[in-house]
Amino acid sequence: MQKINLVIPDNMDYRTSEAYRTLRTNVLFCGEEINAIAVTSCTPGEGKSEVSFRLAESLAETDRKILYIDADLRRSVFSKRYQVTQEVKGLSHYLSGQEELGAVVCATNISNLHVILPGPVPPNPSELLGNEHFRQLMEKTHALYDYIIIDTPPLGSVIDAAVIAKECDGAMLVIENDAISYKMAQKVERQLERSGCRILGAVLNKVDVRAKGYYGKYYYSKYYGGDYSSVYYQKPEEIK
Ligand SMILES: Nc1ncnc2c1ncn2[C@@H]1O[C@H](COP(=O)(O)OP(=O)(O)O)[C@@H](O)[C@H]1O
Ligand SMILES: [Mg+2]
Repeated sequence: MQKINLVIPDNMDYRTSEAYRTLRTNVLFCGEEINAIAVTSCTPGEGKSEVSFRLAESLAETDRKILYIDADLRRSVFSKRYQVTQEVKGLSHYLSGQEELGAVVCATNISNLHVILPGPVPPNPSELLGNEHFRQLMEKTHALYDYIIIDTPPLGSVIDAAVIAKECDGAMLVIENDAISYKMAQKVERQLERSGCRILGAVLNKVDVRAKGYYGKYYYSKYYGGDYSSVYYQKPEEIK
């Protein structure tokens, strides 16, 4: 098996790590049939990659076997963010039939956490994700891991996340506080529902914990019937 070393930034404050633990608990209580979770959002930059990876890391701490798949085939930030320097075989190799599952999975320096990186950008990401290989990948990995967390591109721009969510047991929507309209969130929710995927909840991200009112929090928790978690985020300039 390939092996990569991840350098995880140690910049999480107490409230944020507490929010991730709550999110993890919510996932654990979703039920036994929920193992593969697609994480998506309306627009880029809302925190899908950050939240999905931290969730995977947090689940791995519970001694369950976790697979994290970076399925943002177009604009992955993973290798740069976690300082992965070696070239490894990834998802696009598997989906195009060039490699077997065992050849694209990477063990990491985090115990219980395996990762599949996206691989080289293919010319036809949506098509690749929609093919039989992806379905088989989900079938095989279901048997091997307790949780499979999949990072996806934003649903507002490409269809990939819906294609991925279709093969998952549930989807999680990351919503950036004060950035997304109710209408936009609803549109993305409908798109996910049409793919036949269950929406597990929404994560309200980048909440400024010092702001008064929590307007956004109330707004979305109302919409999702309280089935959500907040990951608090302080803007760096406010911490200084
Ligand atoms: N909860 C958070 N705490 C701190 N930084 C965050 C948080 N969520 C996102 N970010 C930052 O916001 C930027 C966009 O996040 P990213 O996960 O790449 O978004 P997406 O995958 O939705 O495009 C990154 O610089 C990331 O480090
Ligand atoms: Mg991303």
